[in-house]
Amino acid sequence: MDIVCSQQELHLFQIIGKVAAVTETECYLIGGFVRDKLLGRATKDADIVTTGDGIALAHAVADVLKPRPTVSFFKTFGTAHIRYRDFDIEFVGARKESYRTDSRKPDVTPGTLRDDQLRRDFTINALAISLNSNDFGKLTDPFNGIADMQECLIKTPLDPDITFSDDPLRMMRAIRFATQLNFKIIPETFEAIRRNAGRIKIISQERITDELNKIMAAKKPSVGLHLLYISGLLEYFFPQFVALAGAETREGRGHKDNFYHTLQVIDNLAEKSDNLWLRWAALLHDIGKPPSKRYEEGHGWTFHGHEVVGERMVPKIFKQLKLPQHDKMKYVGKLVGLHMRPTCLAKDEITDSAMRRLLFDAGEDLEDLMTLCESDITSKNEAKVKRYMANFELVRQRLIAVEEKDKIRNWQPPISGDDIMVMFNITPSREVGILKNCIRDAILDGIIPNNYEAALALLLEKAAELGLHKADA
Ligand code: CTP
Repeated sequence: MDIVCSQQELHLFQIIGKVAAVTETECYLIGGFVRDKLLGRATKDADIVTTGDGIALAHAVADVLKPRPTVSFFKTFGTAHIRYRDFDIEFVGARKESYRTDSRKPDVTPGTLRDDQLRRDFTINALAISLNSNDFGKLTDPFNGIADMQECLIKTPLDPDITFSDDPLRMMRAIRFATQLNFKIIPETFEAIRRNAGRIKIISQERITDELNKIMAAKKPSVGLHLLYISGLLEYFFPQFVALAGAETREGRGHKDNFYHTLQVIDNLAEKSDNLWLRWAALLHDIGKPPSKRYEEGHGWTFHGHEVVGERMVPKIFKQLKLPQHDKMKYVGKLVGLHMRPTCLAKDEITDSAMRRLLFDAGEDLEDLMTLCESDITSKNEAKVKRYMANFELVRQRLIAVEEKDKIRNWQPPISGDDIMVMFNITPSREVGILKNCIRDAILDGIIPNNYEAALALLLEKAAELGLHKADA
């Protein structure tokens, strides 16, 4: 396994080695940079570990670079960072660490390179490459990280109970690496995750979600989501997702396991789109099913209105997981709320009015909604899948035709709520909503044409019914 570095990287590493030599300390490349280079993955940051003082080394390196980069450092952690051109370099002194049980903040004492490697999370992240002039480029691999990399294994250098209890975020990292790299977590390490899952509670939600999003952004997110579920971790921070699991049977009637169905939908979608928030919509599309599940005698299981319940759950889940509020949350909520609509259109007699309503409600997110709905087809029955897909194609074509004719997608009704308030000299109220919706619905349903005159005539008629009169009348 070879490492290929750019000229710029090589030049920088030689400088760092020379600067360290002046203070008679050693330094090594370590961690993700070494791992990703060996795997042929792109990297844009490097970690350097030194047997001396990391902050002092960063300053000394910055002094010889032109232009001199700024050094940012954290005295308590003994780490320093410089950004040189488009490359981020992190310096840290080699250390022995022991963690306290109630926090992620370690008690740090200086150590040897080996001590430092031993305290790292996985064998594939503990590989070090010398930057010292006597053995520049030499790999130090005390825990057979190269062999694990070749066999695609995630394994801790220490007893996994110690590694995970030292820093429980590593349980999420193990699953994230297994997903991103398509590696297997060895059974001993995985069992330790199960045993220590409860310790995830001391980790901040932001850090957990950061790892979760990396899993969601991977080629096949289901790998990590499934591991999170079977390890018991998921239950601690996302119980609503776990609630989808299981299939109940009554009177010989069952329903599908909505957890595994959802995993399939996410993978289907991940093949079509890299949009993280569309992937989140896939994850959450059926989240309202457990609370809306009913058994109807002689009929079977129903999940009526689960899309509405799901849409309402989105803000709470986003808040709980510390995901961004506002735009992204609204987008995901909207798609969850609309995800049954194209499917219903594909089943029913398609009217132009239903098409216009979908165009209006989905607006610029219509294509994403269609992608979500296609991903939602997870039947194993090929003939069924073919039929659904053909129906969707029909819906798409009809949507295009109606849009060409009526231009509904970015349409706004010819009379707005503000217009209504001015016209009748009223403040925001229930009446404004009634009148606004009445105009919108009449146009979408094709009852009146889409123009100002027709809208005004209808408005005056409806306003009179509500006892309202034009302000200037
Ligand atoms: N590390 C660790 N335990 C952690 C986080 C990091 O032991 N909880 C060590 C690992 O050796 C890791 C290195 O610190 O390789 C750098 O960590 P980081 O930059 O967070 O991750 P990378 O491994 O570089 O991977 P990525 O950039 O994909 O997050």
